[in-house]
Amino acid sequence: MCGIVGYVSGKEDGAPAIVLEGLKRLEYRGYDSWGMASLDSKGGISTLKRVGRIGGAGSAMVARKLGGGGVALGHTRWATHGGISERNAHPHLDCTGRIAIVHNGIIENYQELKAGLVARKHRLSSDTDTEILAHYIEEGMRRGMGFAEATRSIAKRLKGRSAFVALDSSGRQMAAVRLGAPLIVGVGDGGELFISSDVNGFLERTNRVMYIDDDEMALISFRRGAPGAPKFVSVPRGGEVRKRVIKIGWKRESWSKSGYKHFLIKEIMEQKYTIAQAINQDDARIMRVANGIRNAFGVFIVGAGTAGRVCAAGQYLFSDIAKKHVNATVASEFSSYRHYLTRRTLMIAVSQSGETVDLLDAIGVARSKGTRILSLVNVFGSTLMRVSDESLMLNAGTEKSVASTKATTAQLSLLTLLAYATAGRLKEGKRLLLNTAEQVNDMLNPRYEERLRKLARQLRRSRDIFIIGRGVNFPMAEEAAIKLQETSYIHAHGFAGGELKHGPLALIRKGTPCIVLVANDDTKHETISNAMEVRARGGYVIGIAPERNDAFDYWIRVPDAGEASPIVNIIPVQVLAYHLAVARGINPDYPRNLAKSVTVK
Ligand code: M6R
Repeated sequence: MCGIVGYVSGKEDGAPAIVLEGLKRLEYRGYDSWGMASLDSKGGISTLKRVGRIGGAGSAMVARKLGGGGVALGHTRWATHGGISERNAHPHLDCTGRIAIVHNGIIENYQELKAGLVARKHRLSSDTDTEILAHYIEEGMRRGMGFAEATRSIAKRLKGRSAFVALDSSGRQMAAVRLGAPLIVGVGDGGELFISSDVNGFLERTNRVMYIDDDEMALISFRRGAPGAPKFVSVPRGGEVRKRVIKIGWKRESWSKSGYKHFLIKEIMEQKYTIAQAINQDDARIMRVANGIRNAFGVFIVGAGTAGRVCAAGQYLFSDIAKKHVNATVASEFSSYRHYLTRRTLMIAVSQSGETVDLLDAIGVARSKGTRILSLVNVFGSTLMRVSDESLMLNAGTEKSVASTKATTAQLSLLTLLAYATAGRLKEGKRLLLNTAEQVNDMLNPRYEERLRKLARQLRRSRDIFIIGRGVNFPMAEEAAIKLQETSYIHAHGFAGGELKHGPLALIRKGTPCIVLVANDDTKHETISNAMEVRARGGYVIGIAPERNDAFDYWIRVPDAGEASPIVNIIPVQVLAYHLAVARGINPDYPRNLAKSVTVK
């Protein structure tokens, strides 16, 4: 959470505009306030801070407020410590105004560190944990340390996962410190350097990156014109670390809304081809991975949020298709299972961003037991990919909307394929999923969307929406609830159909919408019976099913996709969630209080 962008060039101007452009691309990481700092012509630091989204702020405005300059820093915030205000927006400065800081993550021991600064009469002007960094660097330098050493010295004392960038205007240096939260260096063609929380902050300008690993810092010096090559230093040891420039390949097409009003609907529609892309994997590699799954002594499949629901679906898929038991666990709870981890255990980590802190912590637990890590991840070069023994890419392209859609179905597709491969039926799995991809392509037509838009208008004033499913469609009911909650802010809850009579049925009143996810499998009849029970109590039953049924007040047809039913069943809910948000006047791309990449606990 929070997006950081830094830029250093030998040019006389343009840096604020370039940082602003990068910040807009990172806005999905946090969007409650934003701010920038740039080095002005007299060598001082100018800052600009605003509450709310970056929105239409343009390069002319930032250049007017900040001047030109070839060096700038920016931050888009998801508040942790301190309310949402200009005072708490980053960058933060030290007492002299010579050091500027932007930060992502949490400094767990900040109160203790802050108390020391207050006692020593530093003037703190925000409620954040971030600001202390500027003052500690100031203090270190006052005691005779160089900027790099002062930065390293406070970095060594921090507890918790974070990343920060410090700008020293007097020494014309920048330090990018990674302590468990992502930060990456981009190397431009003209020798200019970028720092960003992820590649989206600069990918329009360069695809050449240098990875900062955990507990390392990159030092950039720009004393004479263009910056020199960044120097990488180990935070605990202080020694220099050698790095390579790596070229990453990501297409640019997925950066715009391509004529759609929101990223969310664009990404939903992209599922016409992302399912096929997800399973476009090398067969020999898939078989090798599948052998690893088959022979592992204990398999855990772990993710957070929507990815966690996908993992729960994966548990059913491996059981039904491959007769292999895998344990699905939400990442934040994984450490409770540490006693069952050995060198022969396999952990399958599922994530869109590859940066979710709970998942990375879970990996740390698994690693400490020698457990092998296989990841299914969308963002190339992400932390997850880099800490895994093996990674399979989801190939879904950039997913910008906070609500995950195309990455979700890509994860489901790849897990289904792996389950088939584990069963020794890879070809059959591929055939099924390619067929499903075609069915999804047919399904996502304008008439289908229009029907769901009308349903959304009908449901837009609902207080609650319930969703039920059985078998693999139970976790999909939970996922449907996540989608509806984060886009429409309507209270939504997903249940296993069989659990209905154990409590939730008491909440059904006349007209309460209940979405029923039906698959043409051995759960079908019991799911329909549950739908009948809801209807008998006055509930308004919306059936998402391959066939019409008398139990439904409203039928949304989906293809009969066999084992791929979770994929086709969740897509109409995604479309409904999108149109509910629009009907309720909510921007579905930026749900309140949320951010795309959850990098704090
Ligand atoms: O990037 P990840 O897949 O690891 O993210 C996990 C969750 O934060 C994410 O799925 C979240 O629940 C989505 N906003 C749901 O749409």
